[in-house]
Amino acid sequence: MAAKVVAVAQRKGGAGKTTLVAQLGICWARRGRQVALLDIDPQGSLSAWWSARADKTAPPTVLAVQGWRLATEIDRLRRDYEYLILDTPPHADTDARVACRAAQLVIVPVQPSPMDLWATGATLELVRQERGRALLVLNRIPARGRMVAISHERIAAEKLPLAAAGLGNRAAFATSMIDGRGVCETEPEGLAAQEVAALAAELVGILAA
Ligand SMILES: Nc1ncnc2c1ncn2[C@@H]1O[C@H](COP(=O)(O)OP(=O)(O)O)[C@@H](O)[C@H]1O
Ligand SMILES: [Mg+2]
Repeated sequence: MAAKVVAVAQRKGGAGKTTLVAQLGICWARRGRQVALLDIDPQGSLSAWWSARADKTAPPTVLAVQGWRLATEIDRLRRDYEYLILDTPPHADTDARVACRAAQLVIVPVQPSPMDLWATGATLELVRQERGRALLVLNRIPARGRMVAISHERIAAEKLPLAAAGLGNRAAFATSMIDGRGVCETEPEGLAAQEVAALAAELVGILAA
């Protein structure tokens, strides 16, 4: 097996990196994909999420790796899994660079807000320096207001690649994670799970191409 490696990166904290990694990982695992999630952020949010889980025997596999072991660990996991999702730290340190270099695709969560749009340039520059391929994903899309349309306009004007699927601003994303789960487990028929599933399917297509 040669895993497709997806890094989730965004220099801006609180953009939704860990949320995306956890929700996508659970979604793919529930569809029977062999998936491993790697916590590269020293803050350890993804690991904390996983520690809260009652049943850790069911997929996905969740591991924390940092520093000199990172590149070899990615190579090792690449052989055993179909998908590897890397939750990266916000600062542009070596680990974030190793992750962006190893990934076929770097997902960049962006909230439809001026601050998030401005902050995204630094992340895209990091991906470019590591010769990665970036894909913006709108996260915490509000139900109303003009910022979603404005964000689409700005992203299109800069000719940046944007996923068709995005995640709404939904309490279910946080609620599902309190005990180490994801919306595809807690509310599989809900809107949040539908959004994650649409993004997961879009990514499968992009990674297969
Ligand atoms: N789509 C969403 N809807 C509602 N809340 C969200 C969503 N995405 C993230 N959040 C919340 O935003 C905060 C930051 O998300 P997190 O995934 O920790 O970001 P990062 O890993 O980029 O720092 C968390 O409290 C999380 O629950
Ligand atoms: Mg995080």
